[in-house]
Amino acid sequence: MKEGPASSRALNADDAPPSRENPLADLDDWESAHALEPEAAAFRNYRENVRPGVREFYRLNHANQTLDFVHRKAREYAPRDRRVMGVWEAMEYLNTLVDDSDPDTELSQIEHLMQCAEAIRADGHPRWMIVTGLVHDLGKILCLFGEPQWAVVGDTFPVGCRYSDRIVFPEFFAANPDSLVPGYQTPLGIYSERCGLDNVHLSWGHDEYLYRVVKDYLPAEALAMIRYHSFYPAHREGEYTHLMNDHDLRMMDRVRTFNPYDLYSKGHDRPDVAALTPFYRDLIAEFFPPRIAW
Ligand SMILES: [Fe+2]
Ligand SMILES: [Fe+2]
Repeated sequence: MKEGPASSRALNADDAPPSRENPLADLDDWESAHALEPEAAAFRNYRENVRPGVREFYRLNHANQTLDFVHRKAREYAPRDRRVMGVWEAMEYLNTLVDDSDPDTELSQIEHLMQCAEAIRADGHPRWMIVTGLVHDLGKILCLFGEPQWAVVGDTFPVGCRYSDRIVFPEFFAANPDSLVPGYQTPLGIYSERCGLDNVHLSWGHDEYLYRVVKDYLPAEALAMIRYHSFYPAHREGEYTHLMNDHDLRMMDRVRTFNPYDLYSKGHDRPDVAALTPFYRDLIAEFFPPRIAW
């Protein structure tokens, strides 16, 4: 069992300012670039609304997420030899992540997962979608394996082809070494027209990692929701359709169905974790084996 250099205190001590490597005070602060209702977002500038640290976070993310980095991380995590644990245990493990956010106002990771799942349940969606809401952010345990924030969260985007100017803070891609590789800067780059997202490398983070861990246990729609929930350039901005096949286009619709439960369920009442635990333990047992390799 391998652990990264970070202890369970993967982000920052309460009394320390966010570090240069991890500029977000709260791991979910990057979502403040998207937190407006979609209609309002079109008329307001996220640059003026993002929380402190988000700009610096995207500077690091866009400069460092190269095709080579993505390949390296995929290889590094492929053996799945970090931990063996069940889904509930993974939720408790994720909850050990400590950051600089205010515990009185910000939800814990388990609370976010349950709130998302509860909002999906309240709308009468099938059980596979409820469990998808419950697990969708478990890949954030990458932070506990020592990965910096920029390699765990943030909008994802294809590497190895031209960056869409609809990605947040697109100017920061100028510092990415891939910007100087002409073969990576055409609309198709290393890919072919409608090759399918299975053949496209997205920037590395909690979406792709969790997809790889759970791909044998959930239906295709659920896997798309997990793998592409941070792919805002596609599911919100409508970019990169030239790389998608018909299946991807259908799946992107499902990701759009999922997104509001992730983004806008936050800020509603705190879920009663203790009262909901039996329901969610049963739901987990319906879809997952007792122990999974992470
Ligand atoms: Fe997420
Ligand atoms: Fe989330």
